[in-house]
Amino acid sequence: MSNSADRITAARHLIRVEDGAYSSRLFGARRQAGVRTRTLGVLRWRRTLDSTLAPIVKRPWAKVDVEIRTALRLGLFEMVLLGVPRPVATDGAVHLIRSLGRSSAAGLVNAVLRRAYERWPDAEGAKNLGIRYSHPGWLVTKWTKEFGATVAESVLSANQSEAPLWVWFLDSEARERLAERGVALQEHPWCPDAWSAPDNARVLVREIENGSAYAQDPSSQLVANLAGSLVEPECRVVDLCAAPGGKAARLARSLRPSSMVVLDLYPKRVRLAQNLLARVGVGACIAAADAVRPPLRSGSMDLTLLDAPCSGTGTLRRHPEIRWRLSQEDLKRTANSQKRLLESGLDLLAVNGVLVYATCSIEPEENEGLLEGIPAQYEIVDLVDRIESTTPMVATDKGGVRLFPSEDGDGFTIHALRRRK
Ligand SMILES: C[S@@+](CC[C@H](N)C(=O)[O-])C[C@H]1O[C@@H](n2cnc3c(N)ncnc32)[C@H](O)[C@@H]1O
Repeated sequence: MSNSADRITAARHLIRVEDGAYSSRLFGARRQAGVRTRTLGVLRWRRTLDSTLAPIVKRPWAKVDVEIRTALRLGLFEMVLLGVPRPVATDGAVHLIRSLGRSSAAGLVNAVLRRAYERWPDAEGAKNLGIRYSHPGWLVTKWTKEFGATVAESVLSANQSEAPLWVWFLDSEARERLAERGVALQEHPWCPDAWSAPDNARVLVREIENGSAYAQDPSSQLVANLAGSLVEPECRVVDLCAAPGGKAARLARSLRPSSMVVLDLYPKRVRLAQNLLARVGVGACIAAADAVRPPLRSGSMDLTLLDAPCSGTGTLRRHPEIRWRLSQEDLKRTANSQKRLLESGLDLLAVNGVLVYATCSIEPEENEGLLEGIPAQYEIVDLVDRIESTTPMVATDKGGVRLFPSEDGDGFTIHALRRRK
């Protein structure tokens, strides 16, 4: 695709996201790197871009038509963050606004972008971290209070980069095949068996498309590896919130359980897990069910994996629009649902059985906060010593671990509970 076509597609995606769409659902099977970089980049940097653009436009920014806001954001993003020469990016934005049916705004777009370029260094060096790293103020304040200024700034900064592609291989010969073709694979620094191809990510995309590799963030892979290490092989396992099935597949492959139940609320998503588990050659009972009322006997499981639906604040670099939609109220609502899932997951544990509770959220209220006052028949399993010590994690006050988003992985929080004898 040409730059111009990429820009128009990215603008259409951005307008759909403003209407409530999720960016991750907009990209088709084709790689479309230029569209992805522009769409996700503008969503990531929205506040910083707006802080430069809004004062130049005479009308209140929220009342400026979405097509004009989008063309301005894209134009400024291209010149200051993609390194597109200023005249090329400006012409591109002017052409874009015409393609979006708003030719009358071409002069405005041209004039605003000229001035915005001059003002950009103010935004880049802003003292306000929310403006410099393009996050809502309440999240900056919350993370600074909960994790300290240094960690908060490292999280903000990590959320502004693209997430690299990491895979694990379903086909045991794939790595050798790639090596024979001269593809240099790199193993992840702390997640065994996670691989990237820093010089040639496209080759991994093809392996994913042909079914020999599965794309999964290393922190997510770590959850499955850890869960498998807490129980004996040949045990009874349930994954309560399993789709699209990455952790279930990874877990089943290493653990070889005697029985495995795989559930998810949504039939369409269940099919994703079904396909993946079939490809890995795992026999499992897979069904659509509400994990709050799972169709399983109380006390019948040795391992319950609960990778709960969450706010996703550990994955903001992948899903940048989440930060603009989330509120503190949402966190409370999500925590209430998670509590119900946790109670039902605990009820499934046999004596000595373990529940692994994980989220791709770094928020305490969605994680250790839920373990306050758990019934006495469950004990906390300390996880820090069970994870490779080079893993960049911090211990929570409930024996769990938190990985903050970094260039090596998404943010995740993991806890484990065992049913006492
Ligand atoms: C974080 S994702 C799971 C990712 C998955 N474990 C993996 O590694 O591929 C959470 C999942 O929970 C599912 N879910 C949400 N509410 C649920 C419920 N009440 N019962 C079962 N599944 C639910 C969602 O459909 C979603 O697929």
